[in-house]
Amino acid sequence: MENSRRSFLQQFGALSVSPLAFSSLSTSEWNHLLAYLGNQKQRSDQDISRDEAYWKEVAKAYRVSDDFINLENGYYSLAAWPVLEAQWQHIQRVNETPSYYMRTHQWDDRLRVRQALADFAGCSVDEMVICRNTTEALDTVILGLDLAAGNEAIMTNQDYGSMVAAFSQRARRDKIVNRVISLPLHPKNDQEIVDTFEQAITPQTKVILVTHLINITGQVLPVRKICDMAHSYGVEVICDSAHALGQLDFKIRDLDCDYWGTSLHKWVGAPLGNGMLFMKKDKIAKVWPLLGDDTYPDDDIRKFEHHGTLPVTGQLSILDALKFQDTIGVSRKQARLRYLKQYWTQKVKDTTGIIINTPWEEERSSGIANVGVASLSPNKLAKRLMDDYNIFTVAINNEAAQGVRVTPHLYTSLDELDQLVVALTELSEG
Ligand SMILES: Cc1ncc(COP(=O)(O)O)c(C=O)c1O
Repeated sequence: MENSRRSFLQQFGALSVSPLAFSSLSTSEWNHLLAYLGNQKQRSDQDISRDEAYWKEVAKAYRVSDDFINLENGYYSLAAWPVLEAQWQHIQRVNETPSYYMRTHQWDDRLRVRQALADFAGCSVDEMVICRNTTEALDTVILGLDLAAGNEAIMTNQDYGSMVAAFSQRARRDKIVNRVISLPLHPKNDQEIVDTFEQAITPQTKVILVTHLINITGQVLPVRKICDMAHSYGVEVICDSAHALGQLDFKIRDLDCDYWGTSLHKWVGAPLGNGMLFMKKDKIAKVWPLLGDDTYPDDDIRKFEHHGTLPVTGQLSILDALKFQDTIGVSRKQARLRYLKQYWTQKVKDTTGIIINTPWEEERSSGIANVGVASLSPNKLAKRLMDDYNIFTVAINNEAAQGVRVTPHLYTSLDELDQLVVALTELSEG
């Protein structure tokens, strides 16, 4: 038994060495699940996205509280249980050989993780580093670029607060000018979005911030088209892909953005406190690291890894998260999450008093949607959903969209979404 358990973990957690300490499923159940997922690989994403039996099997890999229905998987999307088990082994291993490990093996191990992550995200390993989250990744860029008084940056009224705050600090400190544009909630086509950015460009514009998958509404922006337009003016693009990696099927190189960041504790399913910063090779030299570095040359991306003693056990678990994700596949995750969003929004979209603040078209959204009830403020709606129906969402009270953000996960059942539909319908009736 112990041998087969160990072989499962060796297959799963490449960096793991110790037997595991706890589990939610028995070894044979895990092996059954992995074999089952492997056997389904040939089926089309479209077919499998609607196969409830398949997703019921996938749900066994997640251990979630049944105290409430969790439809707020946007902030932090829990890691699957095998990933946590592997992380526990990394903690044990590093703790058993503490300074020795940190002074010897950590470098090779972390390089293997970086390499796997670069392959998955679609860039070269010498264009990326692992960091703690999107905020750290993108604020490093925003605060590290040489921007002078009068230089302009373009962003939208739906960008994430931390990036906007970093630009505001540059405005106060360096007198740069921030132009905040309004994006339509329901664009007619990609060109409307591209035009909205283009109209804000002036001869002083240096950089555009683009959110790939907008957190407050779930809208997906045409990043590549925005980059092509910006580059034709010599303007650089910073892409906020916090919610996109692991939820949307894409590669960084296809976006052609200059700078890019994500949080791996969202849709990649890595443990909390993991993120990634990407920078095109020829941009690295001109961006200042936030924490001064004199170990690497200016054009070496590792200058951005200068963070002192790192939470290495969390970083090692990124590899386990990538392996777990690969048992399903990102295009399949994308298809399922889109299906779940369409499933419940379809049922309420024509109900009087219910407002969907997310585009309907498949290519313009994914698993996240924002819904409002005309008679309730976002906070009241979120509270009623939790207090009266035991459904956890998050209130979004932004000038652009008011409602609650609903974010199902791979473990979410149609029955849970049906309960959401009942709740919204009853609440809209007053
Ligand atoms: C669009 C967007 N960007 C950035 C972030 C920041 O992510 P983190 O807190 O992991 O840095 C978030 C967080 O939800 C987000 O939604």
